[in-house]
Amino acid sequence: MRGQFSLTTINTTIFMATLQLNLDSPVRQIPYFIGDDLWRDLVEFLRANFERHSVFVLSDDNIARHYRDRASEVLDSLSHFRGMITFPAGEASKSREMKAGLEDQLLGQAAGRDSVIIAMGGGVTGDLVGYLAATLHRGVPLIQLPTSLLAMVDSSVGGKVGINHPVGKNLLGAFYHPAATFVDLRFLATLPDEDFRSGMAEVIKYGTTLDDEFWLYLEKNVDAILRREPDALAHIVRTSIAWKIRVVAADEKEGDYRSILNWGHTAGHAVEKLSHFRIPHGFAVASGMRVAARLSQRLLGFPEERVARLEALVQAFGLDRYRCSDFDPEEIWQVMTADKKARGGQPRFTLMRAPEKPELFYPVEKRELFHVLKYA
Ligand SMILES: NC(=O)c1ccc[n+]([C@@H]2O[C@H](COP(=O)([O-])OP(=O)(O)OC[C@H]3O[C@@H](n4cnc5c(N)ncnc54)[C@H](O)[C@@H]3O)[C@@H](O)[C@H]2O)c1
Repeated sequence: MRGQFSLTTINTTIFMATLQLNLDSPVRQIPYFIGDDLWRDLVEFLRANFERHSVFVLSDDNIARHYRDRASEVLDSLSHFRGMITFPAGEASKSREMKAGLEDQLLGQAAGRDSVIIAMGGGVTGDLVGYLAATLHRGVPLIQLPTSLLAMVDSSVGGKVGINHPVGKNLLGAFYHPAATFVDLRFLATLPDEDFRSGMAEVIKYGTTLDDEFWLYLEKNVDAILRREPDALAHIVRTSIAWKIRVVAADEKEGDYRSILNWGHTAGHAVEKLSHFRIPHGFAVASGMRVAARLSQRLLGFPEERVARLEALVQAFGLDRYRCSDFDPEEIWQVMTADKKARGGQPRFTLMRAPEKPELFYPVEKRELFHVLKYA
């Protein structure tokens, strides 16, 4: 972005300032490297692009326990590697206090504008550290190194970073794209089962809304995926990232298109909230997809056979542990209608009219939702 500042005198006492920005928005290309064991590639990238930068790795203490040695061993070969800073694992770390504490540590270690920050971890790390990188010295280069399935296929793509406020989730944040994202499938070997399954809900979301062929692939490869066979992991991660990139890129032109990714999230968020976030995000989304599929069938003629296939897939991945029908419909309605996306007292859903034909911001009446909640 190039800028020009001009000051025009209107009369002797009033000045009018004009800041003219030449926002010619050069196409920004963000590389996503997807593969197995990418540490050497990461080092090469840093050497090629940030040779003189101080390199800091920020990570939660869980991930650090698994990967501190490997990260240090490889990054020590850089002359400006400044070590790893860790924070407690878990959603509670997405807080102003944690961000301030990390900023203190970085500035205490004289992290200047010539720093590059690597966010190594799940969605919590990517969101927290990404937001920190966006504001430190008004933005220092960020590298996303997602380690959870959810972070790989969803949260590390699209540039949304942020932290929570006691009033609600993700209320403070920014759009801040990384210089690069390294999706190293080898991280998935140590991801706990529940987190792996939870990430699968987002993968299922892409298949059941955007890509029939991918949906079929998921149905046919449940065992291989759950065994985390490398080829299966590579396929689901690559396909999901490609879809998220396509949707995010299209959104810049089409405004609301990104909300296709809210499939399952309206009811999902409601039960997540009602459970005080004890239900893992992906499990909540999976229960929400069942509601969205049944609403789609009832209101828009989405084929019954597809509803059954979606339910079977959710079950096959063990994501049917929690159901929206376990909650009080009145409470679900309350949470949904208080949501910022609700209009005129009605929640608005991402529904499907037909395969690959979404209906965005569809208002749903209370009696329709209550009917579906009996079964979903
Ligand atoms: N920015 C976005 O667009 C976006 C999109 C979706 C979700 N999110 C956010 O993402 C967060 C959830 O992400 P998450 O599920 O990855 O949570 P997380 O970062 O808390 O990771 C889940 C757990 O898995 C552990 N873990 C991660 N990778 C591991 C590995 N390879 N080996 C061993 N343990 C590992 C973590 O330490 C943590 O305990 C939420 O805060 C949500 O708001 C952001």
